[in-house]
Amino acid sequence: MAKKTKGMRIGILTAGGDCPGINAAIRGVGKTAILEYGMEVYGISSGFLGLINQEYQELEESQLSGILTLGGTILGTSREKPFKDNGKNQLKIDKPKLIKKHYNELGLEALVVIGGNGTMRTASMLAEEGLNIVGIPKTIDNDVWGTDITFGFDSALLIATDAIDRLHSTANSHKRTMVIEVMGHHAGWLALYSGVAGGGDVILIPEIEYDEEIIASYLMKRTQNKKPYSIVVVAEGIKKKKGESAASYISKIIKDKAGLETRQTILGYIQRGGSPSPMDRVLATRYGAKAVELIANEDFGKMVSKYCESIEPVSLSEVRNRLRTVPEDHPLIKKARYMDVCFGDRAVK
Ligand code: F6P
Repeated sequence: MAKKTKGMRIGILTAGGDCPGINAAIRGVGKTAILEYGMEVYGISSGFLGLINQEYQELEESQLSGILTLGGTILGTSREKPFKDNGKNQLKIDKPKLIKKHYNELGLEALVVIGGNGTMRTASMLAEEGLNIVGIPKTIDNDVWGTDITFGFDSALLIATDAIDRLHSTANSHKRTMVIEVMGHHAGWLALYSGVAGGGDVILIPEIEYDEEIIASYLMKRTQNKKPYSIVVVAEGIKKKKGESAASYISKIIKDKAGLETRQTILGYIQRGGSPSPMDRVLATRYGAKAVELIANEDFGKMVSKYCESIEPVSLSEVRNRLRTVPEDHPLIKKARYMDVCFGDRAVK
């Protein structure tokens, strides 16, 4: 049974790379906490830095209006990793200790942490320090273990797919090979999904080792088969020369080994900007509401997750040191191969 929650004070922070949907999640947490459970909500600035530097203020329900569709995060974010230097910083600050001190001084009874892998790892460690933590998984990379999907991914997928769609017409006009780099440091979900959705001919992801000769011969064969142009979708995290972008590295290989005229596009931070997709608005709202339900039921040390159609809690300790990467036998990879997509790992038909 939920304990009496009226007047209960909870905190919320957003950490790591931003993405569309964070404000929808903040709204989901805030409205559920304030309107449904009578709680007080404190917004903490700039991720964990805000708890270290005591930068927080109460979030009024009125401040949650108009943010459902707003990109970015009204709280700001940072990539502060309080456990990273364990006190070896120049000021010799014991950051986790400071976070715990300020959490208690602020009178927080729970803390909602919105973030990706690194943030969930920090959240898990703070939970072990005795803080009442609930995590919400967000990242455009969709590489948080323990959930079918993170919010941010669908919005970035829409942006990347629209960009790929646009490249087809200019590639066709000039009979060129267009290389587009999408985000995805460790996992190739965005490249895989946008590559399939955008009709990519070659899709390169970090999880699949590619052979330069296979890519070159595949593209040359397309030319021999009178295909007017090709689209190559690469994840930023694929194997490449140090200091070079994935797009420029692969473009050079295509030019040198296939002798094809190429141009490159690095989509970059456009994938992290702007208003969230309807799916992300709904998912972020569900995640936010569920996080408060867990708090009301004193079910801490958990991350909300999507499993099939339901939103379930998963233990932060299980999430913390794992990454959700694309399995080589993922069904979508098999279907993409049916579409004659080249992943650079085997000669296609
Ligand atoms: O984690 C999401 C992400 O956008 C990655 O895809 C990308 O490599 C990274 O963040 C960029 O980090 P930053 O915003 O710190 O430059």
